[in-house]
Amino acid sequence: MLDKLTQLPEDSILGLAAACRVDPNPHKVDLTVGIYMSEAGICPVFDAVRLAQQALIEEETTKAYMPPAGDATFNTGMQRLVMGGDSPALAAGRVSSIQTPGGCGAIRIGAEVIHAAAPDARVWVSDPTWPVHIPLLGSVGLSFETYRYYDPAEHGVNFEGMVADLQQARRGDVVLLHGCCHNPCGADLSLEQWGTIADMAERQGFLPFVDIAYQGLGDGLETDAAGVRLLAERLPELIIAASCSKNMGLYRERTGAAIFVCASADNARALVSQAQVAARRIYSMPPAHGALLAGRILSDEALTANWEDELQAMCRRINGLRTSLMSKLQQHSDRDFSFIEREKGMFSFLGLTPAQALALREQHSVYMLDSSRINVAGVNGANIDYLAEAVGKVLRG
Ligand code: LMR
Repeated sequence: MLDKLTQLPEDSILGLAAACRVDPNPHKVDLTVGIYMSEAGICPVFDAVRLAQQALIEEETTKAYMPPAGDATFNTGMQRLVMGGDSPALAAGRVSSIQTPGGCGAIRIGAEVIHAAAPDARVWVSDPTWPVHIPLLGSVGLSFETYRYYDPAEHGVNFEGMVADLQQARRGDVVLLHGCCHNPCGADLSLEQWGTIADMAERQGFLPFVDIAYQGLGDGLETDAAGVRLLAERLPELIIAASCSKNMGLYRERTGAAIFVCASADNARALVSQAQVAARRIYSMPPAHGALLAGRILSDEALTANWEDELQAMCRRINGLRTSLMSKLQQHSDRDFSFIEREKGMFSFLGLTPAQALALREQHSVYMLDSSRINVAGVNGANIDYLAEAVGKVLRG
């Protein structure tokens, strides 16, 4: 029976990262997967994570299963981190959450809950969106509609197109939004535009589902959550998928949270039970290590301050890299790359064709996605000149 199965193509992101790993060129540049790389070209362990980990190892007395909803300290900490300590919905008890295996687990649990409530729900996704959104939501049985988002000619959000398309979204539909640092394009909504989306959700009755995997890496923890907090203040219901992969560097620990903002405290409790039952049929209960570390960091003042300092430094460095890359690219090409400086978070499209992205890979060992999405956090002082020169050469043909 199994011999019918054939080899599937490589993942469009992870496959290129694997190809880069085995490339023997000492000048190779890996701009594929969204991982923060330091100036030394490594993905560092946060100091606060190291400290929390030492304490956890000293104190840990069991490896028994986690509760189905995960670690309570982690859940409370994540709700406050995303919603803000002064959130009226939190104060009213209208917010609940469960710990999930990464942000992906949170998206999948969100999809399960949506499917339980409205099996015919259509999910509106931005064009483009993170490719994994589609299988994560689609495998539950939800269908998709697309709204215009990124305008490659203007290198920015086509908000008029987005609004025009979302006018078709109706009660019972879900609109998937990127909370900040849009993956793949790096172009974010302004707070005023978030307000317009809230107006539309109020009027049309669609449910926003916000993926906020990059909080803290655009403009800082508070500013990056301003859009999702605005929705939470204005709307009765909202689902949020949060992740500690990037902002705590807990990538491999699979640490995330599915957060539900509900019309009532009773409904918030009901949502946890729905999410737990969904989790039980997929993976039973979440992994412990990452959430126990994140929970410690978020509930300890000194560790929180230590973590926030390091995260702010990362954020500043990414924004600095954006400026440096823009000017280096402009030295090697007469194209306008100023959009790189305006965009947020780890990703930007360089605006190259798939053939040019392939040429960069084959002729220069510079790895980016076929769409020319780059991980800005993969740039450093040692590779920036080589990268800019290679892009310039490929652009000249
Ligand atoms: C990315 O888009 O590169 C990251 O979110 C990692 C992943 O799983 O694709």
